[in-house]
This record gives sequence, structure tokens and C-alpha cells, in this order.
Amino acid sequence: MASVPSLASTVQQRLADALSAALPEAGSADPLLRRSDRADFQANGILALAKRLKGNPRELAAKVVESVPADDVLREIEVSGPGFLNITVSDEAITETLAARAADDRLGVPFTDAAGTAVIDYAQPNVAKEMHVGHLRSAVIGDAMVRILEFTGEKVVRRHHIGDWGTQFGMLIQFLIEHPHELDHKDEAAVSGEEAMSNLNRLYKASRALFDSDEDFKERARRRVVDLQSGDEETLALWQRFVDESKIYFYSVFNKLDMEIHDPDVVGESGYNHMLDETCRILEESGVAVRSEGALCVFFDDVKGPDGKPVPLIVRKSNGGYGYAATDLSAIRDRVRNLGADSLIYVVDARQSLHFKMVFETARRAGWLNDEVKAVQLAFGTVLGKDGKPFKTREGETVRLVDLLDEAIERAAAVVREKAQDLSEEEIAERGAQVGIGAVKYADLSTSAARDYKFDLDQMVSLNGDTSVYLQYAYARIQSILRKAGDAKPQAHAEIGLTPSERALGLHMDRFGETVEEAASSYEPHKLAAYLYQLASLYTTFYSECPVLKADTPAQVENRLFLCDLTARTLHQGMALLGIRTPARL
Ligand code: ARG
Repeated sequence: MASVPSLASTVQQRLADALSAALPEAGSADPLLRRSDRADFQANGILALAKRLKGNPRELAAKVVESVPADDVLREIEVSGPGFLNITVSDEAITETLAARAADDRLGVPFTDAAGTAVIDYAQPNVAKEMHVGHLRSAVIGDAMVRILEFTGEKVVRRHHIGDWGTQFGMLIQFLIEHPHELDHKDEAAVSGEEAMSNLNRLYKASRALFDSDEDFKERARRRVVDLQSGDEETLALWQRFVDESKIYFYSVFNKLDMEIHDPDVVGESGYNHMLDETCRILEESGVAVRSEGALCVFFDDVKGPDGKPVPLIVRKSNGGYGYAATDLSAIRDRVRNLGADSLIYVVDARQSLHFKMVFETARRAGWLNDEVKAVQLAFGTVLGKDGKPFKTREGETVRLVDLLDEAIERAAAVVREKAQDLSEEEIAERGAQVGIGAVKYADLSTSAARDYKFDLDQMVSLNGDTSVYLQYAYARIQSILRKAGDAKPQAHAEIGLTPSERALGLHMDRFGETVEEAASSYEPHKLAAYLYQLASLYTTFYSECPVLKADTPAQVENRLFLCDLTARTLHQGMALLGIRTPARL
């Protein structure tokens, strides 16, 4: 496993060397290399430098050009405009660097130098409740971030902060005590996710109805909350049954989403109960939190309500109860102290941004977060319906996530069937799931997380445009070419000159490592999605302009097969980092 420096970084380095040789007074100035339409790269750094040195930029640029040693990477450098450098690299250098990437399992993508431990809080549904599109976003974005960070060498600890605590459990548990067989199963192992959720729904509705109509039950339910909080064993055992039943459902949805969720990583709100008292004590003793109207609060200069009065973060309510904030603060202590995190990432709806801003600031004041240990909310926007309003059913109810996924799979299967030539029914079903789930994930990941996006299945499974299906077809088409190649094998031939579309494709593949690094360090999977879409588009252009199996010479055939193969591998790896499958046949 050897990391391969990108051509861009090689060129950047040569220019930086030439700069300091030609203009020693410049120190170590950055040539500011960018990809460019006019040449392969453009360097803009000399303009700012000329200002600083009070020189003529074009003259300085010419001096730098003279100091660039002739070699086999740089084919042409010329001064252009007010003092830019236009740089063209040699075809040979492109093919050689791609060959080095191809020789590596990781396609030459380097491990990050500063690998640490990231704890990522994502895919956090609530016990005894249906999952909805908000949970979809957290799961999809979080899963992609886990894969991307792990690929760069980061140690990643997953935390599914499920909503498994709260007063609603008093009602549910009390109902189960009074109707003891409601959650019994003949065969525990055979309960499907759908069944589990419908059991929970039924129980929830029935207990709610009783709670609202029967004052005595209401009182018994309230007392049950106290039993739960004080750790009464029978109560806890029943609570556990709700959690277990819900997990059957959660896991079935995650499975449908083609996502692996591991039991030890599911540490819900209840997992921090034993820390809440201490968290409050530390905050109060250090003066970070103060009592106000009986509650334990943290105040912020810049958080005020519409009436101009400060809105505090309430760590403990005046009735002694703990809320979301105490749990999140305790989770921070656990993740920093016990899990050794140096970054905490929360994939949570943007509507909770104020909460996290206050929680992070409190943790900073308490010293749990600092310059070495940072926390970020990877905040995501709302999923909208085709009408641009928050996604709801026609009756105005939240859409069940499972229904949505099933519909996506069904639509995708129809697309696959229409295109399928030699696929069996079983294969169509399997590909349909891979395409449908891929479509849903890709639609989410290809827009910046912070933005709202429209959930439009017609668009998502379309073969044209920026969709996963387009990328999956590009991949499958390449596999079919490789199958048809017979004895001809992908093989780089650096001596063969490249056409413009081959160069464009090659230079884009050269940027794969940088793109992964950027997506990882800025927590922006959409940058990787955009990269892959462009890769598929550049491939399409290459393929329409350059015959592969019918190229002029056997060496040319091999070299083009090599470009095809590396494109496919880059697509496959990139899509895998987004959590999307690339079937070999579609
Ligand atoms: N369960 C919450 C919800 O459904 C999300 C939890 C977010 N994570 C956290 N550490 N608070 O909205």
C-alpha cells in the first residue's frame, strides 16, 4: 500500500522550488495551483507575490519559468495574462501516475497524517416510534462519514444515541403490566421488523387512549415513571422489552438501507443515566451552571428569546428531572474521557442547532472540549416533498421511512427490468434493491447536507443526470466492456499519446485522493458525490470519442482498457465510501 502523490501536488512542488530558486527574497511562497480550462493547471500565486515584492508580475513569472528544470512531467509552461502561469503536463506523466494508482489497493489515496479518534453520533431513532425521513438523513450521511473517515485511517467509534428514555415509558410499561401478554411472541427469532413496529404502535395507541381517558391509569403511569427512574427491577425489565422490540424494527430498517449497525454501538439516552447527577454537580461546582428559578441553568450572552431575555440551557428542571441537555453533556464526558475522542461529530437535524451550540459551549466552559478536542454538528436540512413543503403524506402525516424505501426499491426494479437483457427475476429483485437504496442515499448525499432537498423518486431513479443510477450504469457498462475484451487486458502504456478526453479523464482520476481527503476533513460527503458524477461524465465523453476494443493498435486497446478499468475501480471505491453498491451487471 503505497500512497501516490497526485500530479497536482508534484507540479505544485516543482513550481514552489522554482519560485524560491528564482526569487529567494520571496521565501516559501505558495504558487497557488488550480485546475484550469486553458491548460491543465494554472498558478496564480505570482500576482500576490509581485505586489509584495513590488515587482512586475509578468517579469517575475518569466523568471520563475526559466528556473523550472526541464523534466518529463511538465510539458509546457507559459506566462499568460497579467502574470499567471499556464501549465501543461506530459501524457506520459499522466499515464505513469495513473499506473501507480492502479497498482495500489487504495488507488494511491494516502492515510491522513493526523489520524485521531472520532466519535460519530448518527442513526438515532426513538424507541417505540416509527422512523421517518429525518432519521434517514442522519443514517445516510452518518454512514458515509464513518466510511470516509475510516478510509483515511481515522479511528471511528459509532454511537447510536437512540431515544430510549423519558416519561412516555411510564404509560407504556404500566399498560404492559396490566395487559401482560401484549408483547409475547411464539417464536422470538421469527418476529419481523414490520410486526415489531406494529406491535409497538398498537401498544402505544392503546396505552395513550387509556392515559387520556382514565385518570386512575394516568396516575399509575406517573408512578411508574418514578419506578423506572429509581431503577426498580421489574419496571426496568419491562422497559427493556420495549427497547428490544424496537431494535428488531430498527435493525430491519437499517438492513433494508444496506447499513451495518452493531449492538454495542447502540448507546441510547438511558446509557448516560448514571452520569447525570455528577454532570450537574461538576457544572454547578465549577460555576458553569447556576440555579435560576429552581432549575440548574447555563446562560449565554448571545442566546436571547424574542422578549430580549436570556434563554438558558436547562441542565436540570426545577422538578429535579433531567432533559436532553444533561444527557448530551454526560455523553460528551463519556466520549472524551472513556472513548478518547478528539473529535465528536453529531449528524443531527439543523433544527437542533441551537441546542448543540449551547451544549458545546457549556462543555467548553467545563473544559471537556478544548483546542485538542472539538465537537461539530454536521447539521442537515429538511426533506421536502415535490411541492417544496416538509415531506408529509396526503393526509398530512409523517411519511413512514419503510414505505418510502419500499417504493424506491419498486421503482428501481421497474427501471432495471426495462433495461435488463439477461437478468433473472431474482437478479432483478436484488439489483432493484441496490439501485433503489442507492438512489435514495445518493440523492441525500449529492446535495450539501445543510440544504433542504426535495424527495422526488422520479428524479432519483432517472438514468440521466446526477443520480446514482447513472453512476451505477457507467460502472456496469465498463464491466461489460472488460468482459468483452477477451484476452486483451488493461495495461498502461505510457509511451502512447493521449487524446483530450483521455487527458481530462486521467487528470480527474488523479484527484481522487485529494477529494477523499477534503470530504473527510470538512465532513462533506457531497464533494465526493460531485467528484464521482464528474468522473462518470468524463468517462462518457471519453467513451463516445475513443474506441476502446476497436482502437488502432493492441497497445492502444490495452491502454484504453486500463483507463476504463481504473475509472471503474475509482467509481466502485468512491461509491462504496458513500455506502452505495455498484453491481457488475445491470
Ligand atoms: N433521537 C433524536 C431524534 O430522533 C436524535 C438524537 C440526536 N443525538 C443526540 N446526541 N442528541 O431527533
